[in-house]
Amino acid sequence: MEEDIKYLKKYLHPDISLEDAIKRLENGEPVQYIVGDVNFYGNTIKVNKNVLIPRRETEELVEKTYNYIKKYLPNANKALDLCTGSGCIAIALKKLLPNLNIDASDISKDALEVTQQNVDLNNTDIRIIQSDLFNNIDNKYDVIISNPPYIKEDEEIMDIVKNNEPHLALYAKDNGLYFYKKIIQEMSKYLNKEFIVSFEIGESQGYDIINIVKEYYPEAKVLLEQDMQHLDRFIFIINTQSE
Ligand SMILES: C[S@@+](CC[C@H](N)C(=O)[O-])C[C@H]1O[C@@H](n2cnc3c(N)ncnc32)[C@H](O)[C@@H]1O
Repeated sequence: MEEDIKYLKKYLHPDISLEDAIKRLENGEPVQYIVGDVNFYGNTIKVNKNVLIPRRETEELVEKTYNYIKKYLPNANKALDLCTGSGCIAIALKKLLPNLNIDASDISKDALEVTQQNVDLNNTDIRIIQSDLFNNIDNKYDVIISNPPYIKEDEEIMDIVKNNEPHLALYAKDNGLYFYKKIIQEMSKYLNKEFIVSFEIGESQGYDIINIVKEYYPEAKVLLEQDMQHLDRFIFIINTQSE
């Protein structure tokens, strides 16, 4: 709580009184929703109850994906940020690779209102598409990046998360694997011949996801990587000619 109050003092917008903000904090609201924005990879990203609060690990997902694009697919032209929420991933990647054409999609109309605000706020040219996974997607991409919902429906999570962040952004059927399975099963139609797919994942899901990938893409290079806390957190599927 003390840390959060310090954060409020530093970042609270002048139109909200500190007293009201502290009451909201005491009622269990995350400090980021009270302030209304967060810093994600150097970009200001607006957040409200309709979008997940961007996490540190997701900054790592962006950074690692950027490095793999530079290494394995430097001429990549089109990318899709699937399950974009606030748009934090798409915006950060666009700032790193201004020549990459990026589409950002989400099923939630309310979330996409926030995506649009963030795209405008950060002066980025990103196409926003409302879509249940690939249903309204009609392009082919060199890169697909996604941080889909991955919490198991019966998993215990912190009250502050469960009581505030959109459940549509958190939970996934099938032991948390529903979105990975569906994306991996369907993505071939939306990928060019050479591609990079990168996922943020739950810490216990790595080997299950590798097995799904191997079933559909036996030839692709699949990398399971850890976050800064040494937890399995990312999967990269790399299907390019360069070694
Ligand atoms: C874990 S959040 C990720 C948000 C953001 N990309 C980030 O990393 O902070 C997952 C997002 O998936 C969206 N989502 C849930 N079901 C979906 C579906 N069937 N198709 C597309 N997006 C979906 C949610 O609305 C939510 O914005």
